[in-house]
Amino acid sequence: QGTMKVNKNGHLEIGGCDTVELAKRFGTPLYVIDEALFRQNCRAYYRAFTEEHGVEVIYASKTLSNLAVCHMVEQEGLGLDVVSGGELYTAATARFPMGRVYFHGNNKSTEELRLALEYKVGRIVVDNFYELERLNELAGEAQTRAKIILRLSPGVEAHTHEYIKTGQIDSKFGLVIENGSAMAGVKYCLELPHIELKGFHCHIGSQIFELDSYAHAAETMMDFIHTVYRETDYLAEELNLGGGLGIYYFNGDQPRPVKEYADVMMRALQERAASYDLPVPRVIVEPGRSISGPAGSTLYTVGAIKDIPGIRKYVAVDGGMGDNPRPALYQSKYEAYIANRMLEEVEEKVSIAGKCCESGDMLIWDIELPAPQAGDLLVVASTGAYNYSMSMNYNRLPRPAMVLVSEGKADVIVKREDYTDLIRNDVIPERLRSSVM
Ligand code: LLP
Repeated sequence: QGTMKVNKNGHLEIGGCDTVELAKRFGTPLYVIDEALFRQNCRAYYRAFTEEHGVEVIYASKTLSNLAVCHMVEQEGLGLDVVSGGELYTAATARFPMGRVYFHGNNKSTEELRLALEYKVGRIVVDNFYELERLNELAGEAQTRAKIILRLSPGVEAHTHEYIKTGQIDSKFGLVIENGSAMAGVKYCLELPHIELKGFHCHIGSQIFELDSYAHAAETMMDFIHTVYRETDYLAEELNLGGGLGIYYFNGDQPRPVKEYADVMMRALQERAASYDLPVPRVIVEPGRSISGPAGSTLYTVGAIKDIPGIRKYVAVDGGMGDNPRPALYQSKYEAYIANRMLEEVEEKVSIAGKCCESGDMLIWDIELPAPQAGDLLVVASTGAYNYSMSMNYNRLPRPAMVLVSEGKADVIVKREDYTDLIRNDVIPERLRSSVM
């Protein structure tokens, strides 16, 4: 994908950089972000949604956020979806225009809400009654009116092959349409002096290939806008339809083009709005995985190899669930290659193990590769989304570095953690100290 290719030495290249050289220069494990592909994915959204349909595209930071990424997103003309004070602080530090920031979360703290008001973020996406009340108070104290979007649970459940219209009442996110709590939320907003309701939000799920689910969500939300208008005279100006487009990870995944996604969703919305004789609201979408996911790869060095004859060959690498918890959490499947021997024939079925003290730390079960040897460079593809952002220090493993590659240049955008980072916040209480000495 993207700028990946095999060079004359049989090495994998990303962004014109030989991965074997990258590993030598920066060490492993290493997150590699293909700048051209990241930007190309932003542009696909900008073209299909913004240019074609006037839709604002906001990138979901939770998939991958740091200062350099915020800069690229800003340069590509996208907005930003943040879900915590930390993501907000990152955006602010990158001098991301705060008017293009949407602040999400189902349990924002008082401090986070204050920060959002102070930074003057474009919209706060309010999840529940408790938050509405708190935000109204805090906005009152700050002598302002908070511009908000109300998160709703539309009762559209998205699956790979189908969608069903049940089950979603039982969700921690948003106000449910079906049981009347969304309508009660709207009426409450309209009474609160320091709340300015701009519209509604929904997000039906992630890694979705079924575009009908989006059409269905758009229609359900437009139905709700119409019902609210009839009952209260309030006409929503904005509709945020979330993110979720699926990407290629593994044999069988068939991603849908962004343009099709945009057209299917917008056609459904336009038709439904027309049927009510209502204007189409200003639409916002918030893709994450489909922008950052394919742009990232992770490089690992192969170490211990354990053959259990007739059963399985374990090939251990120098990372694992610490830098990519998705296989352990969701049984996610990935593709991988031996980056220093790309032209050799696939000859062996092996399983890739991580280095954490935990049997579940397996990156890939049963993959065919050219017989791996200690010292080989293993690359796992499609690790740009929900990898670095979900990484952890389990077993006190330092987090890997991240490099941005483009046209033969490689720059560190996140430094590798070292052991001193691991003990940075440790404190020894005085009474322990004295007993030791
Ligand atoms: N908007 C909202 C409100 C969301 O909750 C999410 C993702 C997105 C946008 C972006 O969705 P995307 O385009 O990336 O699918 N950690 C899981 C995925 C969790 C999704 C959380 N919400 C994973 O690694 O698969």
